Amino acid sequence: MKEVQEKLEKLRAEISYHDYRYYVLDNPVISDAQYDALMQELIKLEKQYPELITPDSPSMRIGGQPREGFATLSHRLPMLSLANVMGEEELLDFDRRVRTSLLNEKAEYVVELKVDGLAVSLWYEDGILKRGATRGDGFTGEDITPNLKTIRSIPLRLQKPVPFLEVRGEAYMTKETFLKLNKDRVEVGEPAFANPRNAAAGSLRQLDPAITASRKLNIFIYGLGDYRGIDFATHAQSLNFLKEAGFPVSKDFRLFKDIKEVVEYCRWWEKQRFNLPYTIDGLVVKVNSLVQQKRLGATLKSPRWAIAYKFPAEQAQTKIKDITIKVGRTGVLTPTAILEPVHLAGTTVTRATLHNEDMIKEKDIRVGDKVLVHKAGEIIPEVLEVLKAERRGTEEPFVMPAKCPVCQSKVIRLAEEAARRCTNLTCPARQREGLIHFASRGAMDIAGLGQATIDNLLKTKLISDVADLYCLKFDDLVSLERMGPKSAQNLLAAIEKSKSNPFNRLIFALGIIHVGERASRILAERFGSMERLMKATFEELVAIPEIGPKIAASITAFFDLEQNRQLIAKLARSGVKMGEEPAKKKGEEAKPLLNKTFVVTGTLKNFTRGQVQEIIQKLGGRVTSSVSKNIDYILVGEEPGSKYTKALTLGISVLREDEFLNFIKI
Ligand code: IVH
Repeated sequence: MKEVQEKLEKLRAEISYHDYRYYVLDNPVISDAQYDALMQELIKLEKQYPELITPDSPSMRIGGQPREGFATLSHRLPMLSLANVMGEEELLDFDRRVRTSLLNEKAEYVVELKVDGLAVSLWYEDGILKRGATRGDGFTGEDITPNLKTIRSIPLRLQKPVPFLEVRGEAYMTKETFLKLNKDRVEVGEPAFANPRNAAAGSLRQLDPAITASRKLNIFIYGLGDYRGIDFATHAQSLNFLKEAGFPVSKDFRLFKDIKEVVEYCRWWEKQRFNLPYTIDGLVVKVNSLVQQKRLGATLKSPRWAIAYKFPAEQAQTKIKDITIKVGRTGVLTPTAILEPVHLAGTTVTRATLHNEDMIKEKDIRVGDKVLVHKAGEIIPEVLEVLKAERRGTEEPFVMPAKCPVCQSKVIRLAEEAARRCTNLTCPARQREGLIHFASRGAMDIAGLGQATIDNLLKTKLISDVADLYCLKFDDLVSLERMGPKSAQNLLAAIEKSKSNPFNRLIFALGIIHVGERASRILAERFGSMERLMKATFEELVAIPEIGPKIAASITAFFDLEQNRQLIAKLARSGVKMGEEPAKKKGEEAKPLLNKTFVVTGTLKNFTRGQVQEIIQKLGGRVTSSVSKNIDYILVGEEPGSKYTKALTLGISVLREDEFLNFIKI
């Protein structure tokens, strides 16, 4: 028993360390596969000895049963909010107020990013995470401990022992995750979230922690709540302590000697903020000295020693010229507003997504309306509101078509969905989008088969479904507009190569509703071949962890359709591999990159970041995110960033993408 206990402790410590390297330092030292193996080992052992499971075990991040509701919880110290200021003048006023209250003493300030998410409190007893709560009304919040445990950057056990520690931070969703989540939601007929903050809040307040886990939230810790057994003189010291204790603290906090420098830093971020991977709505300016903080105190609502410097909201006025409908891969009809071009948050905007008809109705959007637009997640242009006072009576209400605008088939709206779908499986728009998805990078990855070529192939009737791609001949291709013999040859080679893609890619490429890259991987691993996957029953599918009833039902519905089965048979006849790779024995594979460490920077033409990482790992190498003298190569795509410059100064070997391609062909 003692041995098991020791083994468990070792595994937990090891996994926690790798979580920290990956999620906090963004600098992993083992491959995903190695990490998964450790986690599997832990889970297996804990299944055998359930009495030895502890609340800080990394396995607890994925466990957790759905609950009936949330318990409320009293905060040990109230969670105050911040007063806001806008512009330089108001910031200088704040500084004057601070100095007057401090009887003209000088004050240093720490400035932090104000990430737009959801305030939470985490509380640790003897270094172990015991509770996590929402802010609520500031005095009582909701106990969302299991949900917060799914955020991998939150340590379950501190790297510094403290008898009691409460920290506060902002849970958030990156812009990329937000956009992907919304895209998936709209595609399956669920309403889109308005911004990353709502998406983060909605994800954290899920009764089923498995849903929270799937939303990939993140967190920055920005301060202390209540604590015992530690002491600090300044806020900056406390942040450094939090960093050392293993918390994800933003690296962008800065200490300034006077308010002039603070103003400059705020101005700088006003422009730079669009380059961050998450949204910030301002900066937080805090008096650094904790003694001074105490002297300044707080009002009922907010501390007098801190202020939120808010950025002006990025909004613009324009006019809706038209509303058009796009039919997606699963048949969803998405209305889009065509706008009079307007400058907004760094780009010229000409279109705005309207998501679905409910949104149009809710906001009463009409063609010809003057509207206020903004960018959700700083990227996707959206109509915020209609300027109704400016109406002239000539604006026309929009009616969703009852027929598909592309193929004229019937359009249905399922009871539980916000979306309308075209019911015709062979709708040209659906086929086009399906083809684009099939050829895309994460799917079959057919280089040279972009939208324009697909449109050309469809127009000339050379193809009508994805299986037709595999019947294309050289003569067919060279006859196309803008297709020389060289590109025709390359395209044929790329199509040929895609036949032997791993099984998970093929599953994803089929475009089964709800089946994304991750689910495809799980299905490929579990069933191994198309034959077995097609035979899988709903019960077999839902029995797989991470495959819920919605995904399972969608998979069986997909394979129940004769048309889909025929398509798969046609793909198989054309030589597309349907899984069941004879597994190579360990050690047989060539490992030309054994123990080599790579950093990847810039945009790659031939791979996604995930693919590059997969290739490097397969060949024995590692990928890390930060450049140091310990790395062996920097792989450089287009428009490389500061990592490239740093690598040059350190004398790291540089590989361009084409060189890398040659390199891996060895
Ligand atoms: S300090 C008593 N620092 O902004 C001081 N707040 O009303 C309390 N926020 O929802 C907050 N980033 O969660 C602080 N670096 C930061 C922050 C931050 C975001 C949020 C906070 C709260 C709101 C303040």
